[in-house]
Amino acid sequence: MFKNTLTKVAGLALLLLTARPVLAQEVLDTDPNTLAPSKDPKRTANGLAQTPPMGWNSWNKFACNVNEQTIRATADAIASNGMKQAGYQYVVIDDCWHGPRDVNGFITEDKTRFPSGLKALGDYVHAKGLKFGIYSDAGTKTCGGRPGSQGHEYQDAVQYARWGVDYLKYDWCSTGVRNAEEAYALMSDALRASGRPILFSMCEWGNSKPWLWASKIGNMWRTTGDITDKWKGKYNYSWGVSSIVDMNEPLWPYAGPGHWNDPDMLEVGNGGLSDVEYRAHFSLWAMMASPLIAGNDVAAMSSATRDILLNRDVIAVDQDALGVQGHRVVRNGDLEVWAKPMADGGRAVLLWNRGEAPARIAADWAALSLPRKVRMQVRDLWAHKDLGRRAGSYEAEVAPHGVVMVRLTP
Ligand code: GLA
Repeated sequence: MFKNTLTKVAGLALLLLTARPVLAQEVLDTDPNTLAPSKDPKRTANGLAQTPPMGWNSWNKFACNVNEQTIRATADAIASNGMKQAGYQYVVIDDCWHGPRDVNGFITEDKTRFPSGLKALGDYVHAKGLKFGIYSDAGTKTCGGRPGSQGHEYQDAVQYARWGVDYLKYDWCSTGVRNAEEAYALMSDALRASGRPILFSMCEWGNSKPWLWASKIGNMWRTTGDITDKWKGKYNYSWGVSSIVDMNEPLWPYAGPGHWNDPDMLEVGNGGLSDVEYRAHFSLWAMMASPLIAGNDVAAMSSATRDILLNRDVIAVDQDALGVQGHRVVRNGDLEVWAKPMADGGRAVLLWNRGEAPARIAADWAALSLPRKVRMQVRDLWAHKDLGRRAGSYEAEVAPHGVVMVRLTP
């Protein structure tokens, strides 16, 4: 009896502690010491990525096994399967496109894998109405052992601009004792000096807390090591989806238009999770205003995968103009409620069951920073169904590892 009361009191205290306010501004204003000023406060961002970037990247599916046929087939697919219309824009070649540097030090492409050259490939991607992205590294070598950009930053930026590159993912292997802020600022300056708007995706795995200093340097920064196509846990240098979520979630105050936390590329459709889990993965990325970079073979995906990646209601939550990263507002064991404030004054709400049995989860308006009396229009974003107006709370049964995602509109 006593133990039971104690559990209830502890539960209530936990609920109050975790039911934090939803608006980013409130936390930023009350906690200025967590925001270290940039070493150069006069820096300006490049103005890109006012909403989280959307596109595709080769790594999660193809790893080092990239070539021009695969990239062309992917661009063809994105342009014709509805992804482009849904907002997927950047087609990014990750590691292993590189050949040697030429006699003048300019980077060249691997001529066996890309015989037509990256300029021609960029033109091909652009002709499909899409944008072209590539990958490099701040060290002497990329993680795949290709030439890195260290000591060649301005030269590489010029080369990328010549090829028509619109997006650079910049990794952190073989960097020795380099200072991350300086290394990333140098490439950011080089990209700006190239004269071409190039979105800058920083990939130093959260080692030097880039959320504290990178908002004027890059458009997104990885907050974690690599994602792997598993539900949870740590595997060498990579983490399962729900473990990545737990590392990225607390960083919500640092994201905003032009500068986003990046919990890594999507695994949706790669086969390691169930469709229920992939729906949770995609929903959580949207709630966290994460870049939505598909990482599967989009030229050969199942209709279930397609329905997930093309869910426009969920994408609209990710892309909402307010640009506030949503976060967990209630945690009750394996049952969680997440909220993301929307530009229209409403909320995106996620009920997430991390447990192994079906469970009912309720989102109380109070936990969403809404007056309990106010009647909100409720739309179920996976059932694609309007549920009418509700006041006070919304409750639903949630499958194990699954989510129910609704949008509340005033
Ligand atoms: C690192 C990055 C990955 C990928 C590989 C390529 O591990 O974190 O996202 O780019 O390198 O080698």
